[in-house]
Amino acid sequence: MGPKVTIVEVGPRDGLQNIKNQVPTEVKTELIRRLYDSGLRTIEVTSVVSPKAVPQLRDCHEVLRSKTIKQLAQAHSVRLPVLVPNIKGVKIAHGYGASEVAVFLSASEGFSRANINCTVDQGIARAREVTSEAKKLGMIVRGYVSCIFADPFDGPTPESAVLRVAKELLSMGCYQVSLGDTLGVGSPFDVRKLIQTLDKNGVPLRQLAGHFHDTYGQALANVWEAYQCGIRVFDSSVAGLGGCPFAPGATGNVATEDLVYMFNRAHVVTDVDLQKLVATGRWISSKLGIPSASRASAAISAK
Ligand code: HMG
Ligand code: MG
Repeated sequence: MGPKVTIVEVGPRDGLQNIKNQVPTEVKTELIRRLYDSGLRTIEVTSVVSPKAVPQLRDCHEVLRSKTIKQLAQAHSVRLPVLVPNIKGVKIAHGYGASEVAVFLSASEGFSRANINCTVDQGIARAREVTSEAKKLGMIVRGYVSCIFADPFDGPTPESAVLRVAKELLSMGCYQVSLGDTLGVGSPFDVRKLIQTLDKNGVPLRQLAGHFHDTYGQALANVWEAYQCGIRVFDSSVAGLGGCPFAPGATGNVATEDLVYMFNRAHVVTDVDLQKLVATGRWISSKLGIPSASRASAAISAK
């Protein structure tokens, strides 16, 4: 058996945030329940952001106070992070009993402005306040750095900018930094180069995660390359759902089904039941009325 990997399932948040038609809250909570039943133990359940910025997730209150979340929060070794941009988000998430939040920054200016309406420096200062408040409230904090390879407005991102933001997130107390290829433009070559740069410059690999969107069909290869480089935590989304309203043209995250299939073949433990996960992906795709982007799901379902 190879070393175990941890999957952070971001389907209920990243996966749904860019869907135009309002998805009923009960579908969202049932999705979370089914993901849990498939063996996933870290599920980013929603975001508490401006409802004007992301109308799809404006029912975060109902999701966070749902019976499903209350029950799962009691289960052994389950983590249900909530994405938040500011102290208001932390307080709301904490009020519903959340014990983990995720803060997000961009390595580049254009996306920072579009996504959180501030410069990278202002974003860092805000994330520092958010992290400090969350820790005071007894919560743990995960960090994201977006646009690790390119920005939709500014073009290619210098590695030094990613290094800077990753170090800031760790120094403010994030236990992990997820490297976001928001546009899904990077290839395994880029992944190795960036991880080597981060590693050489004092960012511990054990505190990094990979978050790869699949716009150019590179996401699964990127996961494997990052795994080969020593990364052991990966974000993915059931049925390959996902995308950001502020990253035009970008498609979904790597499909969790494809990631689990790949690691199963390599005898790397994920603790996920692939059959149940495929059924969950088919179920949510039918609820949303869109085809699943998972190739493994299509192959397994065709048998
Ligand atoms: P702003 O307009 O500068 O801030 O937005 P504001 O403080 O003036 O607030 C504007 C309005 O939002 C106000 O309401 C606030 O009350 C409300 P109004 O007075 O107009 O009625 N508001 C909130 N409501 C609920 N919860 C909150 C909250 N905060 C303010 N927490 C702000 C700045 C950051 C708030 C806004 O730009 C925002 O919410 N941005 C979030 C955008 C977002 O969610 N993007 C997608 C997630 S990031 C992503 O997908 C990338 C990732 O997957 C990694 C990768 O792929 O790279 C993580
Ligand atoms: Mg994303």
